[in-house]
Amino acid sequence: MACIVIHQDQQPNRTIHLYKDRLVIGRSSECEIHIPAKGISRKHARLFKEDGAYFIEDLSSKNGVLFNGQKVGRQRLEQGDRVTLDKFILEFFAECEGTRASASTTAVEARNVGKEYRLGNQTVNALNDISLRILKGEFVALSGPSGSGKSTLLNLIGCIDLPTSGSVLIDGEDMSGKTADELADIRLNKLGFVFQTFNLLPVLTAWENIEYPLLHKPGLDKTARQSTVALALEMVGLERFMHHRPDELSGGQRQRVAIARALATRPEIVLADEPTANLDHRTGSEILKLMRKLNHSENVTFIFSTHDPRVLEMADRVIELSDGQLVEQEAE
Ligand SMILES: Nc1ncnc2c1ncn2[C@@H]1O[C@H](COP(=O)(O)OP(=O)(O)OP(=O)(O)O)[C@@H](O)[C@H]1O
Ligand SMILES: [Mg+2]
Repeated sequence: MACIVIHQDQQPNRTIHLYKDRLVIGRSSECEIHIPAKGISRKHARLFKEDGAYFIEDLSSKNGVLFNGQKVGRQRLEQGDRVTLDKFILEFFAECEGTRASASTTAVEARNVGKEYRLGNQTVNALNDISLRILKGEFVALSGPSGSGKSTLLNLIGCIDLPTSGSVLIDGEDMSGKTADELADIRLNKLGFVFQTFNLLPVLTAWENIEYPLLHKPGLDKTARQSTVALALEMVGLERFMHHRPDELSGGQRQRVAIARALATRPEIVLADEPTANLDHRTGSEILKLMRKLNHSENVTFIFSTHDPRVLEMADRVIELSDGQLVEQEAE
């Protein structure tokens, strides 16, 4: 039987079997799929089956039905597709085996994560009791004012730093208690990083910058490595610039090299701390669109922080931080 798994920030998931060919989702208690939340309209959307396929249809709801970040009227659902209704994500499974479906779809989980920094005899409470879950293939933005803890959270998810309390799970695996070598291995094999300042090695060409992390991958021979670099350059449309050094590239092109470098190791998750902050708005949007495209085509989870409200609009979901805490998102 087909089912949908409803994901809500920090709440246990619900799995709903599509036991009828027509089910209405909404805030009204008459709805078969009852979501009692402010941002959900009384009758928000309908899930229905036609000619063996499932569809979701917006019932003129206030906040709409979003598919890949775009509002849709009616959308056919394929295995693993996700639609967003306000702050809820509905994941569709053509065949469902209970909650196993949702367990295998979590990329990152934070459980009551706290981070304190010591500065002399002062303690800075950078993060406070953060619990969240990010699904595989999600395109998630972290927002919040300067000093709210965005970089700290990205560094903890990226295993660059360790939490003072709580734990971070990557692909269901708890990072607490791992040795430095084990964490380095996870960074190399599961994670990719993109930085605000691009962090390219200035003496290396675009090609060499992308190749660099691959040299640390055992079991990848020269031929495989070269085709990986070529493919990564092609993904970001920079084949013609492969012999250029960073100072011979524009800001947008440098960030493309950084994205290619992050993706070349085939990570499951790419973490990007303000990837567009040093770019003008147009170039920043192009970089985000490229990340979005690769998020779809490569099924890579992207988690990025930003200050730019126009960039936030492109995210599947925005996680807002304030003073080291999650801000509960209120519907308008
Ligand atoms: N290494 C450190 N030592 C001491 N305090 C730190 C350190 N790194 C961050 N902090 C403090 O932790 C808090 C969160 O900082 P963080 O860099 O995560 O914020 P942010 O949201 O990324 O800000 P911005 O938007 O300016 O990049 C701030 O109060 C900051 O001063
Ligand atoms: Mg920061």
